[in-house]
Amino acid sequence: MIDGAESPDRPPRVLLLYYSYTGQARKVLDAAGEVFRQRGCEVYSAPIEFTDPRYAERFSRFPMHNVWPEFLGMLPAQTLRATGEIRTPDEVRRHDYDLICIGSPTWWRNVSMPLRSFLTSPEARPLFDGTTFAVFVVCRRYWRENFNAVRKLAAKAGGRYVGEIHFTYPGDQLRSMLSLTSYLGSGEYRDRYLGMRMPPTNVSSDQLEESRRFAAKLADRLQRGRRGAQL
Ligand SMILES: Cc1cc2nc3c(=O)[nH]c(=O)nc-3n(C[C@H](O)[C@H](O)[C@H](O)COP(=O)(O)O)c2cc1C
Repeated sequence: MIDGAESPDRPPRVLLLYYSYTGQARKVLDAAGEVFRQRGCEVYSAPIEFTDPRYAERFSRFPMHNVWPEFLGMLPAQTLRATGEIRTPDEVRRHDYDLICIGSPTWWRNVSMPLRSFLTSPEARPLFDGTTFAVFVVCRRYWRENFNAVRKLAAKAGGRYVGEIHFTYPGDQLRSMLSLTSYLGSGEYRDRYLGMRMPPTNVSSDQLEESRRFAAKLADRLQRGRRGAQL
């Protein structure tokens, strides 16, 4: 933990906190991070590593080796809202951020086990206590339960919610699921799969622009907050 005397003129500090398997949560937060930097903020990244011996191996490589069993195999633990072993970077152990942006992929309609494990861990309280946070959800379709749970857990750790943005992928239930699992299992985008036309999966360049616009609003808010604090 880094504490001590603070200059009121120091740049705002923003933490990008996330778990990301295929890189989508990281991408939307990196896009936001560019904007925070342009606006004079110091930006730190804290990717959470999923080290749980029961599940880590399948998430340590991409694409998945056996997509259906590995993907479906997370359903029981996710349904139980289970937590598991994770490793966290030193960035979560400094407690002087002005804003924490949480990148949260949906797993089986809820918060992914690695992120839930962090948000419910003893490290979350000193990190969030009294600090504002925003939630960035990435998913194929089901963002709301994930968002609600992340918001609740971060608030329980003492954080102050300031906003959310979510990114979903095109296609109906069946096609978006097949497009996702085809990607998870092959690492490639296919136009057709099992005889059907596939919609694209994953975050688009337009969505990265949305993430930048959202970050610009958050940066405005940070600057207003600081001016207010100095009056
Ligand atoms: C194990 C697993 C379960 C998933 N379950 C859901 C789900 O229930 N609903 C949904 O909309 N997307 C689901 N997805 C899709 C992810 O939310 C999506 O691929 C997201 O882009 C992953 O972000 P990441 O690349 O940052 O890990 C699931 C993905 C995985 C790997």
